[in-house]
Amino acid sequence: MRVVELFSGAGGISLGLRRAGFDILKAYDAWPVAVENYNRNVGNHAVVADLKDLLSTIPEILGLAPDMIAGGPPCQDYSSAGNRTEADNARLTLAFALIVATVRPRWFMMENVIGCAKSSTWAEARAILKRAGYGITESRINASRYGVPQSRRRLFVIGRIGERDDFLASSIAATASAQPMTLRDLFGAITPAAIYFPATSEARRSIWGPDEPAPTIRERSIRPIPTSYQPHPDDAALIRNGYVYSRPVRAGRGVRSIDEPFPTVTRTAWERPTPRYLSAPHPGDPVAAVDTAVLTVHQISRIQGFPVSWEWRASAKQDILQMIANAVPAPVATALGRVILDREAGRTAPDISGGFLQWLHKRGKSKASARNVKASAGRARRLLGGRTFNNLALEISALESLPEFQAMRKATQSDLRQALRLLAEYQAKGKQRRQKPRQATAQPIEGFAEAA
Ligand SMILES: C[S@@+](CC[C@H](N)C(=O)[O-])C[C@H]1O[C@@H](n2cnc3c(N)ncnc32)[C@H](O)[C@@H]1O
Repeated sequence: MRVVELFSGAGGISLGLRRAGFDILKAYDAWPVAVENYNRNVGNHAVVADLKDLLSTIPEILGLAPDMIAGGPPCQDYSSAGNRTEADNARLTLAFALIVATVRPRWFMMENVIGCAKSSTWAEARAILKRAGYGITESRINASRYGVPQSRRRLFVIGRIGERDDFLASSIAATASAQPMTLRDLFGAITPAAIYFPATSEARRSIWGPDEPAPTIRERSIRPIPTSYQPHPDDAALIRNGYVYSRPVRAGRGVRSIDEPFPTVTRTAWERPTPRYLSAPHPGDPVAAVDTAVLTVHQISRIQGFPVSWEWRASAKQDILQMIANAVPAPVATALGRVILDREAGRTAPDISGGFLQWLHKRGKSKASARNVKASAGRARRLLGGRTFNNLALEISALESLPEFQAMRKATQSDLRQALRLLAEYQAKGKQRRQKPRQATAQPIEGFAEAA
């Protein structure tokens, strides 16, 4: 799939999507320093452009005919670190929506802070995207479950033309790792008796201690440590110390163990504890903040998912930290990119929640018959290559046009059609209920809201 990235910064999204298998056509950002770093490290796709200038950008992007537009419009206006007044920066979310709605690629992906989800600007942008025909999935993601050692929570909005809302939510949730990634997972166990398991990606370590479970053993997994392998001395110091400091947000903990993820990376991630913090530390700190390791900019960059080989260029350290803090960690973009490619290729289908069974049961179906309806709906979805349609008539006619469907017995065809009708009714009722939560009088059915 061919992608254009808007508000590309130094290129976290582009790097991640390219690793997932996307072809990056072009990237746009107004900050020349970020564009220079993008072009140096990701590839020569980025140009300096003010995306408020829709008359220039829309015709150009229309000419590129991308399959997807991705981007993280500036977030300061929604961010808990900003003053939360929706002003010029928030308008850039509207610019994103207007470009997508006019160019109408099959897919779009937008990242922002969690606070964006409830903003009036996003409500306006969402309405523009809905009118352009997109089904929209809004997922709140913790990056530590998607390949970086950082508890960074962000909103990802993914849209595809013609789908029902929430069409991708179950696949995104299914990709999350069971355990959060920790700093030790990234920087490695530096131990005198190390064992070398070559890492499967740059985000993973190669050195493991003898007193911990080994990574998944693959073909040619265990090899002698090559003489060329040098654990970085900064990483060795970090692992030996075992603790790091990060300026706390809202009176939280300042000290983290390396067996936890780091908190959200910000421009101040390298700062030492202030005298004020040292005199009144958080009672939950496992060691004194003064004894913790100091992260280097390079380490902060890796915690944010940039590869070891990435070269930052800027005259001011603050600019480098700003580009790092702004970024979508590339492993997160890779994980979501794969979810998109899998659905595009029909390899996944949305889960149908257990709430559907209860709803069918309440409508008088026996347990066995409800299970049959759910199984038929799942079969129809898989036949449709995982697609959902915001219009039931279109959904049924797409099903009827499939040769596999045409080869089925009449009774089976009728079961599949009926199952899709019931599923659509159930999901529409769930949506109405979510839109008017305060007016609802009936008792909610367990699992109902999750399903729609
Ligand atoms: C949150 S950052 C995006 C980071 C990027 N997604 C990444 O993964 O590295 C927002 C970017 O929007 C850019 N920006 C702000 N105003 C802009 C405008 N009017 N036109 C284009 N880019 C703009 C900023 O320079 C910044 O790099």
